[in-house]
Amino acid sequence: MPSALPLADPAPLDGLLPSTVADGSGQRNFGVYVHVPFCRVRCGYCDFNTYTSDELRGAKRSDYAGQAIAEIALASGVLERAGVTPRAASTVFFGGGTPTLLPAADLAAMLTAVERTWGLELDAEVTTEANPDSVDLDYLRALRAAGFTRVSFGMQSAVPRVLATLERTHDPERIPLVVAWAREAGLRVSLDLIYGTPGETLEDWRASVEHAIAQRPDHISAYALIVEDGTKLARQIRSGELDAPDDDRQADMYELADELLEAAGYHWYEVSNWGHGSGNESRHNLAYWQGHDWWGVGPGAHSHVGGVRWWNVKHPAAYADRILAGHSPAAGRETLSDETQRVERVLLRSRLSEGLATAELTPAGRTAVAGLIADGLVDPGAALRGTVVPTLRGRLLADAVVRRLLDD
Ligand SMILES: C[S@@+](CC[C@H](N)C(=O)[O-])C[C@H]1O[C@@H](n2cnc3c(N)ncnc32)[C@H](O)[C@@H]1O
Ligand code: SF4
Repeated sequence: MPSALPLADPAPLDGLLPSTVADGSGQRNFGVYVHVPFCRVRCGYCDFNTYTSDELRGAKRSDYAGQAIAEIALASGVLERAGVTPRAASTVFFGGGTPTLLPAADLAAMLTAVERTWGLELDAEVTTEANPDSVDLDYLRALRAAGFTRVSFGMQSAVPRVLATLERTHDPERIPLVVAWAREAGLRVSLDLIYGTPGETLEDWRASVEHAIAQRPDHISAYALIVEDGTKLARQIRSGELDAPDDDRQADMYELADELLEAAGYHWYEVSNWGHGSGNESRHNLAYWQGHDWWGVGPGAHSHVGGVRWWNVKHPAAYADRILAGHSPAAGRETLSDETQRVERVLLRSRLSEGLATAELTPAGRTAVAGLIADGLVDPGAALRGTVVPTLRGRLLADAVVRRLLDD
């Protein structure tokens, strides 16, 4: 089952925000995330907030777009009453779950609601995640016609044995097809890969990265497999049926991926993300990491506006109840202190190629930079220019780098 929500203050039923969130809002971008909490089956490793038909407790997929559109209307009123500068959305991201389990017309209707409510910047980035099983050429054409610009496919691996361990349902031979269809429809393409699956060899991983590169996507994400508590994968590892991922092997896999990707013209801009050439970064994800404002629509979705963060009730049935009653779906929220915001900037920006300004660090954190350079974890040239940028080894040890920067 999906993991629990954070503990924090209750959120008011009308969703109203303090007027402090408006401070400086004209200088921040605005993005919209729409969570679509449905999957046909749950993959054994995944603890995302997503539900199969059997788990919906009466909530209906066919009602979902209307509920999300109602939350968009509520969001517009809340931001207006807080005095936030009206801004067109720079980016919109439909994630999940599997957004493409819904009819394309539903995704189009939700995007139209965003556009009518806030407007879209002329060059707005509009992405949906997709399972390779759940789209065809007509579907992708309908998305493009509705204003989507980008699709991100969960490829994970090109090796059938690895896909089977991950309990993925798609045939690897479908990847070239869906990528070609997306391109024909006029969409930019990203592929998600996972490394470190039990039983995956370095040669399996090489084959997956090479296969992904051969499709010439605009963007590739490569995530180390995380064994999440409560998943089937965690039970299989505990019972000895599968081996736990090995840190050293995952490190070798990361280095291999970076080498192959760089040689093919993909440049890292965040520890797990590479864009082809320049201008193919995911602007939506960069906005999270750079601390801009975004409204997260849907069950379990998180939002952040001007230093206040909140999250919605998790289950689609609870979400539907709130929306039908005319209430905000927010379950809890927290107001981030200046120090918490600084710590988050250190956490997130030290994972970016654009780096973290050393001015964000305490004197102890600035002293730690010299040690990180000596250990080969931070780029000395960038540090001279006042920015902390991790080296390849620093990216591999990103958590340790952050701990030292925060002097923990
Ligand atoms: C919402 S899914 C993408 C769309 C669609 N649901 C799918 O899986 O094809 C987002 C991505 O998160 C990654 N992911 C999910 N659980 C993970 C885990 N436990 N460890 C590493 N990556 C994970 C997968 O790469 C997946 O493609
Ligand atoms: S299809 Fe995607 S969201 Fe759904 S269970 Fe699998 S990894 Fe998770």
